[in-house]
Amino acid sequence: MTEPTTNRVEMEKIVSLSRRRGFIFPSSEIYGGLSSCWDYGPLGVELKRNVKQAWWQAVVQQRGDIVGLDASILMNPKVWEASGHLEGFSDPLVECLNCQRRWRDDQLEGDKCPSCGGQLTGSRQFNLMFKTFMGPVEDEAGVVYLRPETAQGMFVNFQNVLDTTRKKLPFGIAQIGKAFRNEITTGNFIFRSREFEIMEVEFFVKPGTDEKWLDYWLEERLNWHMGLGIKRENLRLREHGKEELAHYARRCFDIDFLFPMGWSELEGIANRGDFDLIQHAKYSGKDLTYFDEEAKEHITPYVIEPALGVDRAVLAFLCDAYHEEPDKDETRVVLRLHPDLAPFKATVLPLSRREPLLKAAKDICSDLRRCWMVGYDDAQSIGRRYRRQDEIGTPFCITFDFQSLDDNQITIRERDSMNQIRVPIAELQQTLTAKLSGEDFFVLPEGGQVWKMEKEA
Ligand code: GAP
Repeated sequence: MTEPTTNRVEMEKIVSLSRRRGFIFPSSEIYGGLSSCWDYGPLGVELKRNVKQAWWQAVVQQRGDIVGLDASILMNPKVWEASGHLEGFSDPLVECLNCQRRWRDDQLEGDKCPSCGGQLTGSRQFNLMFKTFMGPVEDEAGVVYLRPETAQGMFVNFQNVLDTTRKKLPFGIAQIGKAFRNEITTGNFIFRSREFEIMEVEFFVKPGTDEKWLDYWLEERLNWHMGLGIKRENLRLREHGKEELAHYARRCFDIDFLFPMGWSELEGIANRGDFDLIQHAKYSGKDLTYFDEEAKEHITPYVIEPALGVDRAVLAFLCDAYHEEPDKDETRVVLRLHPDLAPFKATVLPLSRREPLLKAAKDICSDLRRCWMVGYDDAQSIGRRYRRQDEIGTPFCITFDFQSLDDNQITIRERDSMNQIRVPIAELQQTLTAKLSGEDFFVLPEGGQVWKMEKEA
């Protein structure tokens, strides 16, 4: 978190764009908000769904060796005893004797309060799990916890999944879901919040092959981020030192991203060894071994775990995609989001609000909506409408003009280059399919032509 901050978007710009365009709002804003909780607005919810879909596709749908799971958030409290979270999932907490603000001791640079310079108390361990009660009586017997990670749902279902799928090692279980941590220090927008979503794979392997699989997952996960457009120079791998390792980890790497506040963890990839299965076998009394047909013996698999926060990924994609460019006397703000992630894949714009342009444009829009999230905008000048779509990352704008009435062609404008082509309406769906999957913009369908509109503004 300490390296210089050059060529990076400021967090305020991302927060402001998110608020202004309806990506992310403060939670319960009309009541003054709730510290470090956030609501995803109409565009944010699409972006977030697309991030989760891209991850699910890569780790479940496009592979044969990982299956999905959706475990409940509330679990038997014994789970957290066995996993070590009750004992060890804590951060060192200090409090200012002057202003009473609380800080994480391991994140402080000096021994004074960063806010008022006051003296700090000694450090004590603060458990990060949220507690609540199950049933009508609020006593110790009813205590349950909001899960701080989804991983344990996968470990406690290890035998269920094995029995029902008959998977052979190596195989994995994947899950996306909410997690809750009563973080001492939050901030940096959605980077660290108390309620967030997490996407985790528990990949079970034969002991002895774990280091090889750890390398495999490091590469796989880096490629996933880059495949969705994150620039290589904004990513780095960092191995945890011994003193930093979580209680369950043998080795762990962070994929760091160059966030506005500096290099910070985006995703963690850990070798958890056999810690979790051994612990749950011990606390539950159940057999959580795997029968190795080759060696004819029962073994406890090791686990490689890539774990990525959905909200942190959304923030990284927004920061990486944000660009400002000179545009006549103004500045063009463009979100260069990968088409798979963009909230709208295209937006249809009638050049004028006059009929029959409106009806024709709306008909095209309805047709396209059968395949994709497609926007429609007929307010203000065409130039302003293009800028609005640039700012929310829409890869293509489709303009229906007066000439379209005669020649049955529409203009497609590409977000990043602002280049335009003109294609027959009958070819639109096919053309859009090809362009969204990365085909060169100037490959034209039959009857298509490179086009230049008179003016955008
Ligand atoms: N099961 C392993 C695990 O939970 P972690 O490193 O504590 O590992 C995994 O969390 C990922 O979850 C992090 O890399 C980060 O992307 C995200 N994450 C963790 N705490 C978060 C928080 N308070 N707010 C948002 N995202 C968080």
